[in-house]
Amino acid sequence: MSQPEKSVKQTPGKKRLVILISGTGSNLNAIIDGTADGRINAGIVAVISNRPDAAGLERATKAGIKTLGLDHKSFASREAFDEELQARIEEFRPDFVILAGFMRILTAPFVRHFQGRMLNIHPSLLPLYTGLNTHARALEAGDTRHGATVHFVTEDLDGGPAIAQALIPVLPGDTPEKLAGRLLIQEHILYPQVLHWLCDGKVTLEDSRVLLNGEALPECGVRINAV
Ligand code: GAR
Repeated sequence: MSQPEKSVKQTPGKKRLVILISGTGSNLNAIIDGTADGRINAGIVAVISNRPDAAGLERATKAGIKTLGLDHKSFASREAFDEELQARIEEFRPDFVILAGFMRILTAPFVRHFQGRMLNIHPSLLPLYTGLNTHARALEAGDTRHGATVHFVTEDLDGGPAIAQALIPVLPGDTPEKLAGRLLIQEHILYPQVLHWLCDGKVTLEDSRVLLNGEALPECGVRINAV
């Protein structure tokens, strides 16, 4: 486990991102690639996982990014974990906190602290299917299309204002695993696109409404593709 540094080298003008993960980190990979090739005007100043063995931490370390494993199981309560997490995140002075497969329900004080500067990606066309097992639920419902949403995080679980969605068709013979795999490919396009807008100051949150280039977005946000 590497320790946070007080000063992390940053190119002026670039936003500072702290990314929170719990697992594989394929969205993290897409964001690392987006910052490395200049599509996202930001540097990743830290990747933090509540699971110290998360595979995503390894990729971040290889990319030269500071990592921190903060095991939620070693805290007495959700509140205690979130307080420590908040303090550790703040040591990196982020402009934005990016949840990329961070599988924790967050406490209200934590969410309020970062409100307006914390984003999440959720594998459903919100407001459909908040919570878990989104792919299976879309299949059970007989949906003909499925998707993912990037949204600002509010105290509503998976309920914050949507910035953008990516869609995929549900195909004959689909299983939750097949759907999840095809959707991830779209997630890897969607999240970097949204972070590009965010870090260029094109996406803002005003009074619970998301604006893109100054224009209020519909409730589903921008749909970056059509099916
Ligand atoms: C992604 O599908 C993401 O949308 C989902 O977890 C997966 C993480 O994959 N997030 C949630 O379900 C949050 N509620 P990754 O670790 O490979 O990026």
